[in-house]
Amino acid sequence: MDETRFDRILVTAALPYANGPIHIGHLAGAYLPADLYCRYQRLKGRDVLFICGSDELGVAILMRALEEGTTPQAIVDRYHPMIRDSFARFGMSFDYYGRTTSPVHFETSQDFFRRLDEKGVFKLKTEKQLYDPEAGIFLADRFVRGTCPICGYEDAYGDQCERCGSSLSPTDLINPRSVLSNATPELRETTHWYLPLGDFQPKLEAWIATHPEWKPNVLGQVRSWLQQGLRDRAVTRDIPWGVPVPEDVARRHGVPAEGKVLYVWFDAPIGYISATREWAQQKGDPEAWRRYWQDERTRLIHFIGKDNIVFHCLMFPAMLMAHGEFVLPDNVPANEFLNLEGRKLSTSRGWAVWLHEYLEEFPPDLLRYALATMLPETRDADFSWKEFQQRVNAELADILGNFVHRTLTFAQRFAERRVPPLRNPRSVDEEVLRELATFPERIGSAYEQFRFREAVQETMNLARLGNKYFNDTEPWHTRKTDPQACANTIHVSLQICAALGILMEPVLPFAAARLREMLRLEGVRSSTPGGEGQLGWDDAARPLLPEGHEIGRPEILFTKIEDEVIERQIARLEARAQQAAAKTDGPPYAPLKPEIVYDDFDRLDLRVGRVEKAERVPKSKKLLRLEVDLGFEKRQILAGVAEQMAPEDLEGRRVVVVANLKPRKMMGLESQGMLLMAEDREGRLVPVTAESEPGAVVR
Ligand code: 2FM
Ligand code: ZN
Repeated sequence: MDETRFDRILVTAALPYANGPIHIGHLAGAYLPADLYCRYQRLKGRDVLFICGSDELGVAILMRALEEGTTPQAIVDRYHPMIRDSFARFGMSFDYYGRTTSPVHFETSQDFFRRLDEKGVFKLKTEKQLYDPEAGIFLADRFVRGTCPICGYEDAYGDQCERCGSSLSPTDLINPRSVLSNATPELRETTHWYLPLGDFQPKLEAWIATHPEWKPNVLGQVRSWLQQGLRDRAVTRDIPWGVPVPEDVARRHGVPAEGKVLYVWFDAPIGYISATREWAQQKGDPEAWRRYWQDERTRLIHFIGKDNIVFHCLMFPAMLMAHGEFVLPDNVPANEFLNLEGRKLSTSRGWAVWLHEYLEEFPPDLLRYALATMLPETRDADFSWKEFQQRVNAELADILGNFVHRTLTFAQRFAERRVPPLRNPRSVDEEVLRELATFPERIGSAYEQFRFREAVQETMNLARLGNKYFNDTEPWHTRKTDPQACANTIHVSLQICAALGILMEPVLPFAAARLREMLRLEGVRSSTPGGEGQLGWDDAARPLLPEGHEIGRPEILFTKIEDEVIERQIARLEARAQQAAAKTDGPPYAPLKPEIVYDDFDRLDLRVGRVEKAERVPKSKKLLRLEVDLGFEKRQILAGVAEQMAPEDLEGRRVVVVANLKPRKMMGLESQGMLLMAEDREGRLVPVTAESEPGAVVR
């Protein structure tokens, strides 16, 4: 951080909707990076305030309540504590976790809205909007579905088409219908407050131009929004769940306030301010929030997922500019999305790993570490259970855990659990100590630049260095041949362990605390709010354990995960996806395979072939034997499709053949190629055909 410009850091992590539990996608998008950053900054001794809370208002919550036949309040009362608790167990080090149904939030967002209204920032527009005469309410956003005017998808939402991604207005939909009653909506007049984002465009552009250091994925999205031109955005809604439009404001415009609330994307970011006010109240210094929001020497950083970029980089900054009393974000290090086992995460399709379920089976640190190595920092990334297992077993257990364990075991057996003196160090000892001294800066610089994958890799590199040094100096030999050399190895290795006890704290806070306990390393500053302690991040550069210092007994830091345990997780995931598929309108589309380059595709030799003969293979339920004319030669091809089609479905047809596939024997017959088939979501097959001459190249 640039200490000449900033005295303190205010970090926010996107307020999660309290309409469902937290999954690994949320963690990888916003929360884990934010926590890594805050813990690192606290260890650096900086003044950090880390704010989050539940987003409890708006259409998403109301929808969920209607789906479940309950009230929105009941929904948020169920999920808010659940989310808060799983975050806490996962080690999220918030200074304050609030909720947007709190009275302070209602007051803060109404004041904000009132001030913008008084400053003449808003435009009021009276327009015809869709109204459900049966349910008696206006159909905002997701309360209406209909046919997308752009791609013809029949189930598009009022605010967005999920098939083509177009952003829509409810009145754009063809054949709209109410999600609540299925009624055909009618048009009714209503008045709303609009934030004229277009008017802010020049100011926003000038401000964005001062931040060339933002991540390219963030700047890319922001520039594309700006290029399209910002449009007025309605910041009020006619729905029965939200922060009410203040009566006095409505009265001033002669608009009935009843039933009107602030748009959730207007109030939610203000939730960061409300939560900071509550934090200040709670600590008995009610004005303390102002330091973080109203002093230019605060560095404000929003951690979010990529779907929130427009709101945090354009809309909220415009609101803050319009208000005039707040600092603007200095950075918005948004992450891309995390996929799971090669498929898009989806709550409704049951394709997710839920944090509370994970925590029933594994310690938080393992997921913190594994996810940190796979964060979607510049492009979408993939989480797989196998990779999780690999990271835990091959890195946490075999490298970090192993290094600590062998060091402490040696110290216990050959140095009476005391730090032996370093005498006449060899060059290898001195070199390692010199290298150790570079790690806090190296890892720290990655954290400063929001390069968390790199930071975590560098942290593991310190354990790698320790292991290599231990192997190279062979204390099991020197113990007999040169006891001082052995003592030196133990001394230096213990110093590396002590440095790890600080440097691994952001990513592995629970294991780091255990390690420090084993080393009896005291006085390290806590990376959680309000902690005390003298030793911090930079101190890890120097030997921390004095000669003769007594250490504790070695314990295992990380236990390896068995294959069965991982297979059970995968099976559970598949089972849930199947259950979810049975409940929805159709089975899911096959997931997209990982990206390939043209050369990968070009290795296939695809040809048109005419099926001259097709017959069942005796004693096989699945196989058809085909004779296929490729023009330049004839092939025998076995196709595993006999359960789905009869020989006459293929005979005489011109199909597409993979002609350079290595021949393979099945039921004693050689198959010299493969037919291309299209398989739909129900598993029905049809051959891919081409009206061209046999032997024609398909590409
Ligand atoms: O996308 C979401 O989950 C939103 N609830 C994030 C809100 S962030 C902030 F503005 F509060
Ligand atoms: Zn569409």
